[in-house]
Amino acid sequence: MPPAPSFPAAPALLTAEPDLRVSLGRLALRNPILTASGTFGYAREMENLVDFSQLGGILPKTVTKAPRIGNKPWRTVETCAGLLNSIGLDNDGIDAFTLHHLPYLATLPTAIIVSIAGANHDEFVEMAKQLDGLPGVAAIELNISCPNVAHGVDFGVDAATCVKLVTAVRAATKTPILAKLTPNVTRIADIALAAAEAGADAISLINTVLGMAIDWKKRRPLLGNVMGGLSGPAIKPIALRCVHQAYQVLKSKGLSTPLVGIGGIATVDDVMEFLVAGASAVQIGTANYYDPTVTMKLVAALPGALKSLRAKSIGEVVGTLNT
Ligand SMILES: Cc1cc2nc3c(=O)[nH]c(=O)nc-3n(C[C@H](O)[C@H](O)[C@H](O)COP(=O)(O)O)c2cc1C
Repeated sequence: MPPAPSFPAAPALLTAEPDLRVSLGRLALRNPILTASGTFGYAREMENLVDFSQLGGILPKTVTKAPRIGNKPWRTVETCAGLLNSIGLDNDGIDAFTLHHLPYLATLPTAIIVSIAGANHDEFVEMAKQLDGLPGVAAIELNISCPNVAHGVDFGVDAATCVKLVTAVRAATKTPILAKLTPNVTRIADIALAAAEAGADAISLINTVLGMAIDWKKRRPLLGNVMGGLSGPAIKPIALRCVHQAYQVLKSKGLSTPLVGIGGIATVDDVMEFLVAGASAVQIGTANYYDPTVTMKLVAALPGALKSLRAKSIGEVVGTLNT
């Protein structure tokens, strides 16, 4: 029998556990793994499956000022390469959210980032004011990128409109704010720069990619709303490109606004790619549907991936792409 291979003792650097903590502006997180809005319910639905204390944070489903019944069915279609959805921001409105969901969310041992979408400028500002200082609200994400409702992307496609909105929300609340951007624009870097200059604590990107599915025999669209947003691994290259472009433009302007990468993330390799591209944290969306425990698995795998780069912290990896 050949002698058992002997391995030299791992150097101290490799035995120490890497520091997973990250900061999104004024928001400090345990680690960079968050759940994406609309794919994790209001967390309660997941409580028997996920140990929330392991997560960096949770983004509940986007809330609007008034209740919305959402779009007519079908609302989701599985395509050959990704999930297409057009839910239409179905939710009970912000009053019901603060009354029924927030008291529960406030008890959870992780950061809760409340996602809001106004039908107009004033609604965004009013909702941000309403949430300001409420227990359990660690930060607010402005969903200026929903492709499935009228005016859902108005504030995410034009830099000047985005600046006006983020500036107004910034003035209305002391709570950290994230702006969530749509990829359905010509130059996402311009919008990222606008949000950063207007004072967003962090920028999340991307929301879903506008698409559609057709039943050619019936000559009908499959989604009740005709078009919807594509998500899942199919959009990861688009999301990586968006993070890269946003990171590069912010860096060139001397801005250090952190980015939160979203889009098709399902494995620790995906997470590492987004960190290298310039994201300080990531949100996991569609993958929760086929593996509700995916976020915990990513948190568990992250130290090993960092150690393989001899990185002692997340920050050592962020934006280290060699081009
Ligand atoms: C069924 C479904 C519902 C969604 N609802 C919301 C939402 O309410 N608010 C929001 O900001 N994003 C919403 N999203 C977009 C996700 O948060 C995420 O940005 C997008 O799906 C890309 O990430 P993924 O490829 O990991 O899913 C939704 C996505 C899906 C699939």
